[in-house]
Amino acid sequence: MTQLKNDTFLRALLKEPVEYTPIWMMRQAGRYLPEYRATRARAGSFMGLCTSPDFATEVTLQPLERFPLDAAILFSDILTVPDAMGLGLYFAEGEGPKFARPLRDETAIRALSVPALDKLQYVFDAVSSIRKALDGRVPLIGFSGSPFTLACYMIEGGGSDDFRHVKAMLYSRPELLHHILAVNAQTVTDYLNAQIDAGAQAVQIFDTWGGALSHAAYKEFSLAYMQRIVAGLKREADGRRVPVIVFTKNGGQWLEDIAAIGADCVGLDWTTDIGLARARVGDKVALQGNFDPNALFGSPAAIEAEAGRILTAYGQGSGHVFNLGHGISQHADPEHAAALVAAVHRLSRPFHQ
Ligand code: CP3
Repeated sequence: MTQLKNDTFLRALLKEPVEYTPIWMMRQAGRYLPEYRATRARAGSFMGLCTSPDFATEVTLQPLERFPLDAAILFSDILTVPDAMGLGLYFAEGEGPKFARPLRDETAIRALSVPALDKLQYVFDAVSSIRKALDGRVPLIGFSGSPFTLACYMIEGGGSDDFRHVKAMLYSRPELLHHILAVNAQTVTDYLNAQIDAGAQAVQIFDTWGGALSHAAYKEFSLAYMQRIVAGLKREADGRRVPVIVFTKNGGQWLEDIAAIGADCVGLDWTTDIGLARARVGDKVALQGNFDPNALFGSPAAIEAEAGRILTAYGQGSGHVFNLGHGISQHADPEHAAALVAAVHRLSRPFHQ
């Protein structure tokens, strides 16, 4: 395997010394980039991009051609997993993702099982192809949705603002939800391990909707299943540690609990002070994130000031991977993203001397 030319991201995840704070952006390959929209038009659809290793490689590299980012992330989607389970993913124009066969009755739920991983071979092929194209420039991140976040889409049949069906099941038939979560946890473990085998050098679990749960339910229905996954992951490849990042959006009040499940890094949205977060998690884990994605709508000078504020709040030393607190908006100006990357690289150097 090619030697990494820039491993700053991997070192920061392990709290090893770095020269500057590394940065990547959630959803860095996406609609805010005109070149992404052009490739998506050529591919015909979003799933056309995901299922073709050539297209997936092309769009994964697009943000890296524009900005000196410190990591690449596999271009795919968390919903390819329930699609492989037979739920029938489709993207209705202007409506976001939908499932043709959501999990609504007990028979369908009891029939749910871990899918054959060859249904997701296109993802593993994309990982190998991207690794080859990167040629050691920066590390490649693999990812999956958390069992609970996947369950939200599988049960609701698409996006939701109240999680009506999920909550009804959680409060009246918790054993059915536990069955779905157990199948999801085993599937995600196998899926992430296969991404690591194909060449992913770090992996992130996206728990976008765990923060919609009550304090007690979060631990029982989201965190416990992420813990199962972390315990089952391969942690080394090519003689190097494969760090795991766990990101619960709106999970700021559970940082100590999240830091205790065995991951190397905990993702933060923008609602928690990163300095206080650092004090709370101690030496246990690194932290990733904290920049409000919509702060990119401010001027380049304001973006730089906000980046400086976060770097100062984190303070001296390694263990911070700069990122947005959630995915970049499709309305963001690529020039503003460029200003953020440059500001983080420049302003963070004094914190690593
Ligand atoms: O970060 C990256 O650049 C990697 C690619 C990536 C995508 N989705 C591409 C995508 C990643 C890591 C995801 C994760 C994902 N997908 C999550 C978890 C993180 C989060 O954003 O909360 C979730 C909940 C999904 C489900 C999903 N996929 C939704 C709700 C939508 C539609 C709404 C939206 O924001 O666009 C998608 C589609 C999707 N996934 C797009 C991209 C670039 C846009 C599709 C398009 O080109 O039209």
